[in-house]
Amino acid sequence: MPTDPPAACLADLAERARAVLPADVWDYVEGGSGAEVTLRANRAALDRVAVLPRMLRGVHTPDLRVELLGRPSALPVAVAPMAYQRLVHPDGEWALATAARDAGVPYVASTLASTAVEQVAATGAEVWFQLYWLRDRGLVVDLLDRVGAAGCRALVVTVDVPLLGRRLRDLRNAFRLPAGVTAANLRGGRGDLAHGGAPGVTPVATASAFAPALRWSDLDWLRGRTDLPLVVKGVLDPRDAVEAVGVGADAVVVSNHGGRQLDGAPASAAVLPEVVAGVGDRCEVLLDSGVRSGTDVLRALALGASGVLLGRPLLWGLAAGGRAGAGRALSILADELRDALTLAGCADPAAARNLRTMRTD
Ligand SMILES: Cc1cc2nc3c(=O)[nH]c(=O)nc-3n(C[C@H](O)[C@H](O)[C@H](O)COP(=O)(O)O)c2cc1C
Repeated sequence: MPTDPPAACLADLAERARAVLPADVWDYVEGGSGAEVTLRANRAALDRVAVLPRMLRGVHTPDLRVELLGRPSALPVAVAPMAYQRLVHPDGEWALATAARDAGVPYVASTLASTAVEQVAATGAEVWFQLYWLRDRGLVVDLLDRVGAAGCRALVVTVDVPLLGRRLRDLRNAFRLPAGVTAANLRGGRGDLAHGGAPGVTPVATASAFAPALRWSDLDWLRGRTDLPLVVKGVLDPRDAVEAVGVGADAVVVSNHGGRQLDGAPASAAVLPEVVAGVGDRCEVLLDSGVRSGTDVLRALALGASGVLLGRPLLWGLAAGGRAGAGRALSILADELRDALTLAGCADPAAARNLRTMRTD
């Protein structure tokens, strides 16, 4: 039997994922909200960033290691929080977290993970916990206690989901979570938001448990409630990044949720420089939404980011080959970043932040 040629880039893994996933699951992963204008803008904005490489800098093999939130990471990359990873592969979160551990990068565990945070932490990965703020503050407190006890290293509060964006593909597909894929962190305890493992629940139904009208003062409360580094995920306006600094955030993630929330919001790469200028060195600035290669990581660094979160491409790898496939995605990205840094004359990611960029239209 002929074997597939090796995946040469992350897009190759997308093709494989598409071939193995049910069409509605593929749409759930790939889709954005509304007319998917923001989803497309993310790619277009990154493609428009030209990076001016430096020559004869004596760079041989760049050192890809960085510190994220004061802790070592093998790459300026973390795994973005993504709900229900068992939708794309039975090993789900365990496999992706194990691949992240092996690659030496942080794994951000979603509130809506289909594997409990304790099991994810047991992989030995550097786990950050992503919090969706639930209407019931008692549940938030319970989660914070569990996350601390499980040894998570950071708390990532997602602030761009007062409700779920209108994902037209999911609406047209009448997408439902299959039997056995549930919000495992929300099972038991006060109120079973994990819908008892029953099939037929829409992601929107689970998301209706989120508190809709949060304010920055709620984050003040959270800051006082945990000693973990605090990351605010989902800001685009530099003024919100400054608010995040004001409540003691250690990092912000410039993100439009991969084009899944407000359609018509700008590409995250388009607003990144303003956010970086707005917060200065008062907090770290990470970027996500549309990163698909090591060149994109270089672009983000050159625009001033400390690192990126990578989303869908890791689900492609996971769908295509479980733990090994996710590992392959991360190793492709590392190889591409090493090459990109070398070609740009950068000995490490910090040097890339001094590169000049041009916007090409
Ligand atoms: C299938 C899927 C599920 C997601 N679930 C979550 C989630 O539970 N929490 C969260 O903060 N962001 C979630 N996101 C958004 C990602 O964390 C990230 O912002 C986005 O995927 C980055 O864009 P990219 O996929 O283009 O890399 C999800 C994204 C996808 C594609």
